[in-house]
Amino acid sequence: MSDVKTHSIDISAMQRSQQALRIEDEAVCLSVNDLHLYYGEKEALKGVNMIIPEKKVTAFIGPSGCGKSTLLRCFNRMNDLVDSCRITGEINLHDNNIYAKGTDVAELRRRVGMVFQKPNPFPKASMKTWRTAFVFKVSIKSVF
Ligand SMILES: Nc1ncnc2c1ncn2[C@@H]1O[C@H](COP(=O)(O)OP(=O)(O)O)[C@@H](O)[C@H]1O
Ligand SMILES: [Mg+2]
Repeated sequence: MSDVKTHSIDISAMQRSQQALRIEDEAVCLSVNDLHLYYGEKEALKGVNMIIPEKKVTAFIGPSGCGKSTLLRCFNRMNDLVDSCRITGEINLHDNNIYAKGTDVAELRRRVGMVFQKPNPFPKASMKTWRTAFVFKVSIKSVF
């Protein structure tokens, strides 16, 4: 039986134990404290606590609808754009609570970017807005 070949990988050979992340040794980039998020009456995030270390890759894994995108959108306050959305708790970016009064949200979004599956730069823009923008562009062109 000793010459049986399998596709399994010998993890000890990769010295994973030495590479494993010890969260308490890492510099903290983002910390989430008791975060609750409601869409109207529906509680989508129920007391999230987590630390995201700096200069490391962190993945959220979970079934569809469990709140991964909702949590990601909290990190640059994209949920501010959802009328029914209410948030309690804290998210600290390098020790500054991004939900504190007076936070410069535009500056926050310059520092915390997102890449989307589908591009949608102005989600609240209506056809009327686009028509106005188009007419505005045409009139600017006709002036110069
Ligand atoms: N804009 C919204 N308005 C109301 N409910 C929403 C909105 N966005 C997401 N939800 C609800 O919040 C829950 C979490 O959704 P979501 O964060 O998209 O999950 P995931 O990204 O893990 O698939 C789901 O029940 C979803 O229907
Ligand atoms: Mg999602």
